Amino acid sequence: MTIVAESVRRYSTFFKKSQATEVLDYGTGNMRNAFFMAKQGFKVFAADIPEQIEKLRDRPLVKNIERLMATDELPDSRLNVDLVLSTYVFNIIMESSERHLYLENAVANLKPGGYLLMEVRCRKPHERCDTTCSDYFSCSDCSKTLTHEELDGLLNPHGLRRISHYYRSHAVSAIYQYN
Ligand SMILES: C[S@@+](CC[C@H](N)C(=O)[O-])C[C@H]1O[C@@H](n2cnc3c(N)ncnc32)[C@H](O)[C@@H]1O
Repeated sequence: MTIVAESVRRYSTFFKKSQATEVLDYGTGNMRNAFFMAKQGFKVFAADIPEQIEKLRDRPLVKNIERLMATDELPDSRLNVDLVLSTYVFNIIMESSERHLYLENAVANLKPGGYLLMEVRCRKPHERCDTTCSDYFSCSDCSKTLTHEELDGLLNPHGLRRISHYYRSHAVSAIYQYN
């Protein structure tokens, strides 16, 4: 099985200590994080676009997951989870309206005080575009990367406040708390 996302591995102990035991893996992909968290004893809901969910249904390990969900179920599901995981999803959503909807669905299923862990590709200083490219939707080189300040700008309006973050070579990971 593919190795778990680095941020999920690093922060899982913090979430356990914080009694954040019910988790939505939002944009679950091949379910590497969902399976890891389920193995650690978390109760895991896993969501992705409908086509991806259909591909996952017959996987044997799915029995360890509380519920597989298509994204169109999320606006009304009110899961009230303690934690939403979002790794390498937000940076591939290009449309501003779709990013907004993604965050709306995340907080609609998160309890007050709950956490959103986001890991995305980050922009390295030498990859920055020239002065004509000040906006992250402007060019294909920097559109699929984000900094923690850019994440703050997008997540704060949804009631999400950053409490921790770190960078490594190609990624930034941040925990936000929903108030
Ligand atoms: C690069 S994969 C990452 C998968 C997983 N989170 C991981 O880190 O292994 C991106 C996933 O996001 C899903 N995705 C794309 N747009 C989405 C959206 N608007 N809402 C939820 N999931 C989405 C894709 O179907 C894909 O499974």
